[in-house]
Amino acid sequence: MGVSIGDYGQRKGSNSRAAAQALDSSEMADSLQIKKAQASLETVRKIFTAPEKANSTLNRLDREISQNLIGFLSKRIVAGDIAPVNLEQDFLDTTIPEDPSFVSEQVDFLLNKVVAQSVRTSSPTFVGHMTSALPYFMIPLAKIMITLNQNVVKIETSKAFTPLERQVIGMLHRLVYGQSDEYYAQWTQNSTHSLGVFCSGGTLANISALWVARNRLLGPQGDFAGVAEEGMAAALRHYGFEGAAVLVSRRGHYSLGKAADLLGLGRRQLVKIPITPEHTMDLVELRRQVAELKAKRIAVVALVGIAGTTETGSVDPLEAMADIAAECGAHFHVDAAWGGPTLFSRRHRGLLRGIERADSVAIDAHKQLYVPVGAGMVLFKDVEALASVEHHANYIIRRGSRDIGKHTLEGSRSGMAMLVHSALRIIGQRGYELLIELGIEKAADFARLIREQPDFELVSEPVLNLLTYRYVPAAARERLRAGSAEERRTANEELSSLTELIQKEQRANGKTFVSRTRLETARYEGQMLTVFRVVLANPLATPEILASILQEQREYGERLFEAPSSR
Ligand SMILES: Cc1ncc(COP(=O)(O)O)c(C=O)c1O
Repeated sequence: MGVSIGDYGQRKGSNSRAAAQALDSSEMADSLQIKKAQASLETVRKIFTAPEKANSTLNRLDREISQNLIGFLSKRIVAGDIAPVNLEQDFLDTTIPEDPSFVSEQVDFLLNKVVAQSVRTSSPTFVGHMTSALPYFMIPLAKIMITLNQNVVKIETSKAFTPLERQVIGMLHRLVYGQSDEYYAQWTQNSTHSLGVFCSGGTLANISALWVARNRLLGPQGDFAGVAEEGMAAALRHYGFEGAAVLVSRRGHYSLGKAADLLGLGRRQLVKIPITPEHTMDLVELRRQVAELKAKRIAVVALVGIAGTTETGSVDPLEAMADIAAECGAHFHVDAAWGGPTLFSRRHRGLLRGIERADSVAIDAHKQLYVPVGAGMVLFKDVEALASVEHHANYIIRRGSRDIGKHTLEGSRSGMAMLVHSALRIIGQRGYELLIELGIEKAADFARLIREQPDFELVSEPVLNLLTYRYVPAAARERLRAGSAEERRTANEELSSLTELIQKEQRANGKTFVSRTRLETARYEGQMLTVFRVVLANPLATPEILASILQEQREYGERLFEAPSSR
């Protein structure tokens, strides 16, 4: 257990001074000399009162917590080794305590039971997921956000945070669409229009984009008030459609399924188009599907291109998809939740060519913009687009107000854009360019290393900074090379079980972490394989670490493969 709790543990003893580190936000407990926290009007008022002395209990706790957290950040990936099922024992009690607790007691609990058993997502050896390491400057800056507690749904509770959020949207819009200075001068702070919306992540960004696409396609016409007012059944009747669909490749993120469900299209109307061997949209199949839907009188709400798929990091042929979307009059959405920041790299931005033709683009700031979880955006090419989802209320987001909330799916939202603003300015275009290029180069180097290993197989080539691979010991390799179709199938199934076991063992050991997924591959006639998935966004992940990951997997693999009975 990597977290020192300092002297917090002494507080529950009889020493009244120690026990006095109370419910309060100040020195209340010190002066009252109490042993047990009590709720009274005085104490509940006190917790909303700023601590006055520099050496107040809260200030001291604040310093100690910071030290503990920095300590935590330099330890193993999983600081504690308690299995999830045992961990749940600490979180079973559902009674809300009648009486208050001391802040210090809660700090004890948090450090011992929560921090100590958290996952160190910032570790350079944690290369399995898209949850990024954070630059350390985020910790003090995040305090500004929490302290001010602005609510950007409306200007009455956010003031400067509203234009700041609009500025951030403008910055990302410029990165994607690169319009003129005059364009941004006209629209960035234009309160009647929006260049995009900020939200809690890629899921909300995708849903918001498809919400706009649906409402624009099935908008008001003559006596028909539009889908937003009259609902899907009336909209389909009015326009003479049998249904409405969204098209994406098989590598599409599952959030699109939620969008199809929420928007009343139905998950089955999220049409998953087959992919090329490079895990990108098969354009022939896409055209075929578009024609088939047209023949069935099913409206195409949107074509979705992906710039950085979740599992393989592949990038769809966005330019060609923009052409097809234009031909069939569909909204073209690009899910660039992961890959959007590739645009910072002058060397690699060409990979996303065509993104500037998208009607909307989703970007997650909590992925490759390196801000804390809870920050996504969707940008729109047309400043009128968000009018199709505009909402008003009598007490806020009134007509003609500057309230951002009139265009967002969410209501109350934090001032998270402040952290994106800070990251964009502190890291800058050149900083992001270096980070992006480092990740892409590292993935290419790691792919080379994997190819050089006789007992590993690269499953998907990296285009950005993601790749997938698996451990294939010599005996299995031989069966895959020389075996019949049936033997190859069986060997792949066994290898999939082995991959899963290795990944679990590595995760449990807690030194390094890669994730796993299941992919169909052209090499094995579309058979689904379980593979290791590596995401290389942490600039501190070194080639040595990556080599050690392979070595660790090999050790588990040799042991587990030699003992099939343990499978
Ligand atoms: C391509 C893509 N789109 C959307 C999402 C959803 O993002 P979030 O988890 O922030 O909602 C992800 C998440 O991994 C993603 O990889």
